[in-house]
Amino acid sequence: MTHGYAVIPPGLESVVAAELAGLGVEGEVHPGGVRFAADAAKVAQLAHTMRTPAQVLLEVGSGSARSTEALGALVRRLPWKSLLHPQAALRVEVSSRASALRFRENVTRSVTSMVREARKGAFVPDRGSRPKVEQVLQVRIVDDVATLSLDAGGELLHRRGWRTEAGKAPMRENLAACLLALAEWDGTDALYDPCCGSGTLLIEGALLAANRSPFASRSFACDEWPATAPAKGAAARPRGPAPTARAPAGRSPAPRPAPLPARVPICGSDHHLPTVQTALQNAKRAGVSIRVEHLELNDIQPPAVVGTVVSNLPWGERLGDQVGGVYTTFGRVLRERFASWRVVFVTSDNRLAKRVDERVECLARFKNGGIPVGVWTFLA
Ligand SMILES: C[S@@+](CC[C@H](N)C(=O)[O-])C[C@H]1O[C@@H](n2cnc3c(N)ncnc32)[C@H](O)[C@@H]1O
Repeated sequence: MTHGYAVIPPGLESVVAAELAGLGVEGEVHPGGVRFAADAAKVAQLAHTMRTPAQVLLEVGSGSARSTEALGALVRRLPWKSLLHPQAALRVEVSSRASALRFRENVTRSVTSMVREARKGAFVPDRGSRPKVEQVLQVRIVDDVATLSLDAGGELLHRRGWRTEAGKAPMRENLAACLLALAEWDGTDALYDPCCGSGTLLIEGALLAANRSPFASRSFACDEWPATAPAKGAAARPRGPAPTARAPAGRSPAPRPAPLPARVPICGSDHHLPTVQTALQNAKRAGVSIRVEHLELNDIQPPAVVGTVVSNLPWGERLGDQVGGVYTTFGRVLRERFASWRVVFVTSDNRLAKRVDERVECLARFKNGGIPVGVWTFLA
């Protein structure tokens, strides 16, 4: 049985494991990811479906890398002809820790040429179409053991295809999905982000509430794996609106639905007008309907009697040190006007988190762009 691996910054593994469990997949938590039993088709399906991971990988083999010869023997015995299209562009990424093979450039060069050699003469499934997406093969060597994995996305999964513009310090879309999961927001009560920037949390929330794919338009490397590629001729799309995302192997692409009126209010605000416009444009590209207003934090009002506030507040590290007042105002306004709303926010500074409310509890810690951050909660 082959395995898949869902990658996430350390500290958020349990969020990814919970999403997998919700999809009926039991995983084993490792630092920085969750490993699960799955074949190529299942890994491809999960890459197309999951909201929280940064990457979904297909582990294709593992074994000794004590020497160049040992790694060469491992690489040569893997079934490259059935794993990779013979004409696909290939990028090999190598990491090495506590191992004899520590010169990454040498390993990259030799693995690349061995894989290219091994897939020569493979059957070309559809001679008319050359693969368009680069295949990424990760070679991870730890304590002289190499694990080789293909990246099902090809590029990071936070790139959904709808956020083509962003304000200052945008949050990665998969991390926004993690925050919503930590807030236990499932789309059945109101959502409000009073520092919404480019709208990432709100748009992820609206797609979740509508049970829609998080992806608008992007390619996935796994769609060009021989084991999962649609049969010749099946790639032709039906006439009609553009698909929401490349469909997993064997499935017809779903047409992009018209923006759904959300069943619950999904609203946000920001005091920077161009950013508000960016959020609305991103929502349009994602095909969701959200309400975003141009408001100072001090002027916000709840859009419903109860609900959840989820926000990525400005951090000192990224936006200068003048942010303390934002935290005090955020806490005061929520206590005054959002009584009994659940509040979840992310910040890089524990002391600033306490300025929001004395009662805050930390739900998770992880690193974002190298900066340690905490996810905090309290009941307003
Ligand atoms: C870290 S960014 C949020 C980024 C957002 N999560 C995204 O993905 O684009 C913080 C946002 O808070 C807004 N902001 C800062 N101070 C504010 C205030 N006093 N009132 C309203 N918005 C404020 C900024 O304009 C900025 O867009």
